[in-house]
Amino acid sequence: MDGRFVGYVSRHDRMHGFLCRVLAEPMGVHQAHPAFRAFRLSGSNEVYGYEEKFSDTKLICKFFGPRFGRDRDRAAWTAAREYGSYQTLRRYALVGSPHHVIRPLAFDRDINCVLALEYYGGELLSDAISRAIRDGDTGHLFWRLTALAYYLATQHNRTVDGTAVDFTADCSYLDVQLRILRDVGRIGQWDTDELRWLCGLWADRPRMWEDQQVWLHGDATPANFLFGGGLDVGAIDLERMKRGDRMFDVGRVAGELQHAYMQGTHDPYRAEPFIGHFLWEYSCHFPDRDAAFASISRRLPYYMALNLLRVARNDYIPRDYGGRLVAQAKELLRAS
Ligand SMILES: Nc1ncnc2c1ncn2[C@@H]1O[C@H](COP(=O)(O)OP(=O)(O)O)[C@@H](O)[C@H]1O
Ligand SMILES: [Mg+2]
Repeated sequence: MDGRFVGYVSRHDRMHGFLCRVLAEPMGVHQAHPAFRAFRLSGSNEVYGYEEKFSDTKLICKFFGPRFGRDRDRAAWTAAREYGSYQTLRRYALVGSPHHVIRPLAFDRDINCVLALEYYGGELLSDAISRAIRDGDTGHLFWRLTALAYYLATQHNRTVDGTAVDFTADCSYLDVQLRILRDVGRIGQWDTDELRWLCGLWADRPRMWEDQQVWLHGDATPANFLFGGGLDVGAIDLERMKRGDRMFDVGRVAGELQHAYMQGTHDPYRAEPFIGHFLWEYSCHFPDRDAAFASISRRLPYYMALNLLRVARNDYIPRDYGGRLVAQAKELLRAS
């Protein structure tokens, strides 16, 4: 189990009882005297990995309570929504190898709104990106991006339902990012006006309205995909799953690659071969690969910009780097 070992769960802790129940019922593991080691994992929620010492069984618990403070109803609603999202996607046969949406195991509102999840052993995309930037292991990252493109194209293509995308939803999303950036003082009125105007140009382009809605992962960042052997991919963190334009996910992956290279090498263009590879691999899951690639590439700048702006608003981003992200987003939005 990755993460920082924080100790054994006390037998007198309510969590111990919860873990015993999850182990016995959904997981079917029967131990007379189970003992659980706990590991703190990183995430915006409090996420822990647990390992039962005798059977070596692993599971993940995500606590929604701390993030929402006293608003227990909102925490419970968010956890229930994530639980339901795993169930929804798993119904599209995204179970097993190579494409696996992890299985939700249990929920308990009274233990800090904890959601228990199946453990998926594998490498995070963020680790593969770091290896490429730090050690020059680019072949490995290309391979992981092939696997991720296959996973996302499969999820998207299986969940098309004939409803047209609504680009106004993605314009509103951009507007929310601008408002936050403005409120935290990362952009001024001049930037806001310019970015809004650029966004308006995209809304006038018919291509932004022509695709059909799919189920989106909704937060396709490098910490939310795990990779096993071959082309195996495990999808986690479906808290923000929603219906929408596939480009929302595709653009987030591309935008995150650009952000990683901007941060790691100060050169956004070093991400280009990886972005191009990812798009080309994603496109091969369509009957006409060239047409799919052209269509995706022409819509991509908007969605990449959206992601860079989303990253720029975070307080862990230094101010000068935040400014570079905003400048890069503008450059992307200026594409015609
Ligand atoms: N099912 C899982 N199997 C293995 N690791 C997991 C699993 N779920 C979460 N993790 C690890 O915990 C981290 C945070 O979990 P995540 O669900 O993404 O929470 P957050 O909403 O806080 O980002 C992930 O980036 C991953 O490293
Ligand atoms: Mg996450």
